[in-house]
Amino acid sequence: MGKVTVTEHPLIQHKLTLLREASTSSKDFRQLLTEITMLMGYELTRNLPIQDKVIETPMGRTVGKEMAGKKPVIVPVLRAGLGMVDGLLNLIPGARVGHIGLYRDPETLEPVEYYCKLPNEIADREVIIVDPMLATGGSLAAAVNFVKQRGATSVRALCLLAAPEGLEAFQKAHPDVDLYVSCIDEKLDEHAYIVPGLGDAGDRIFGTK
Ligand code: URA
Repeated sequence: MGKVTVTEHPLIQHKLTLLREASTSSKDFRQLLTEITMLMGYELTRNLPIQDKVIETPMGRTVGKEMAGKKPVIVPVLRAGLGMVDGLLNLIPGARVGHIGLYRDPETLEPVEYYCKLPNEIADREVIIVDPMLATGGSLAAAVNFVKQRGATSVRALCLLAAPEGLEAFQKAHPDVDLYVSCIDEKLDEHAYIVPGLGDAGDRIFGTK
């Protein structure tokens, strides 16, 4: 089963409380989401491989460390996933960014891909899918399916909040994918919104209704 890491750092929990509040403006919401993503990104990247690198300092030769292994690609699930891109790019400025757009077919209720643009050689990359709200788990699972169908073999996912039902469904669908969340909330309501949650993440990021 994929590992679930709940990033319980005090700063993350403090900022998450501010983010959840209905009175928080879109401007502050975006800023807080970026800051939380950076803090969560610290945990997400903790086990990325490194290798030795010989360098010359002004004082002489030494051996430092540099990132090794697969090059990261950040893949936001449109639209709310866009709110988590800057936080990760602040940490990994050289990362590529792919995009996946999904909508739910009103009849079958299945997620349908309407947009997908990924960098080349996806099989040789560490794919980090970002989507703030893991509600039913359906769109995150579909996004992972799409990158796997295009050859990705190493995928991890970063979500701000998860509902227990969605977490379980996602883990069943993708037992090889490690998941990072800042909080596992109480439940889903009858409209598949996370409770207590924060409302519609896309609307709060972009100031739409
Ligand atoms: N998507 C959201 O934006 N919010 C939820 O609570 C669930 C899904």
